[in-house]
Amino acid sequence: MNRNILLLPGDGIGPEIVSEAEKVLRLLNDSLSLGLTIDHALVGGSAIDEHGVPLPDVTLDKAKASDAILLGAVGGPKWDDLDMAIRPEKGLLGLRSNLELFGNLRPAILYPQLADASTLKPEVVSGLDILIVRELTGGIYFGQPRGVRVLENGDREGYNTYVYNETEIKRIGRVAFEAAQKRGGKLCSVDKANVLEVTVLWREIMDELAKEYPGVELSHMYVDNAAMQLVRAPKQFDVVVTGNMFGDILSDAAAMLTGSIGMLPSASLDERGKGMYEPCHGSAPDIAGQGIANPLATILSVAMMLRYSLAENKAADLIEQAVSDVLDQGFRTADIYSEGTTKVSTVDMGDAVISALSKLV
Ligand code: NAD
Ligand code: IPM
Ligand code: MN
Repeated sequence: MNRNILLLPGDGIGPEIVSEAEKVLRLLNDSLSLGLTIDHALVGGSAIDEHGVPLPDVTLDKAKASDAILLGAVGGPKWDDLDMAIRPEKGLLGLRSNLELFGNLRPAILYPQLADASTLKPEVVSGLDILIVRELTGGIYFGQPRGVRVLENGDREGYNTYVYNETEIKRIGRVAFEAAQKRGGKLCSVDKANVLEVTVLWREIMDELAKEYPGVELSHMYVDNAAMQLVRAPKQFDVVVTGNMFGDILSDAAAMLTGSIGMLPSASLDERGKGMYEPCHGSAPDIAGQGIANPLATILSVAMMLRYSLAENKAADLIEQAVSDVLDQGFRTADIYSEGTTKVSTVDMGDAVISALSKLV
């Protein structure tokens, strides 16, 4: 069966990490005859430089025609002064909204080999395996009206709108309940229902949905407490479901539990399972071009792609096994380095995964 995969390297470290992930994808494609056709396109700052817009039509058309997409990261200081409407980040947001990728899965798993790389005590994080389910195409990121206006007294005022309708809340809720059903049976819905009406509705709808999933134990937590609990006792969580902005923030915090944001992959899915896959981190301008970025979050995003969009579970398992083997062998990029391990570059880490994978296929 032929499937089209679109690679969108983006900006900063994006091209460095995506080319390591591409090596992995090509190796599996060849050795397991996956029938994947791999194409590339521009998004973000690199698309602005070439086409003047962060999401050119040609990229969107290719994205729509593909079976799955792998994205590196977008953005960087070069484009930070552009108008909001044409910033690199709009390219990513445009892909998410045009493809209706509302269901964002961000699994934070601590590989036991990295217990020392986390800034938290090993006993706090060992065995950590939580899933953050973030709503990705609504909430304050997309609410209208938005903008900056000048008031009658000459003061400038910035404004955004935090809005969720019932349909949006229900569909992300179902993704989370179903994930919890397949995992540990616990779902924590994170909101700010003590202050924001939109999340009062969010909480009500989660309670309604809970009746359809008797096997799942639903709890609610305010987002400020959730941020604290995530670093105090993260293993109390199984699946967390939350809105777009809270999910953005909490998943970066969860990343540090795993040792580094360079370890956190993600899947962004539509109603039918088509998806875009990306590391949770950004374009890391501070280390771009140095060849030291951790490619593992992107490589693990390929595993999620194989599992969720391509039904290639065996190939996905092989990637995860290869990553674990490479960590066993002591290879570490700078962000996860600790004494007694071997510090390697982005390319060396990619090569180590390829070599581990070659022994498994
Ligand atoms: P960032 O995630 O790019 O970087 C935060 C810190 O983490 C930096 O010190 C960086 O060096 C480090 N880091 C990130 N990924 C790493 C990796 N793979 N290996 C080792 N270290 C890594 O966040 P930021 O600095 O706030 O944002 C930089 C740019 O990226 C901004 O333009 C932002 O809008 C954009 N961004 C894009 C995405 C995306 O494309 N999905 C996500 C977040 C931020
Ligand atoms: C992420 C990023 C994006 C977000 C930005 C770059 C638009 O931070 O994917 O986590 O806020 O969703
Ligand atoms: Mn983010």
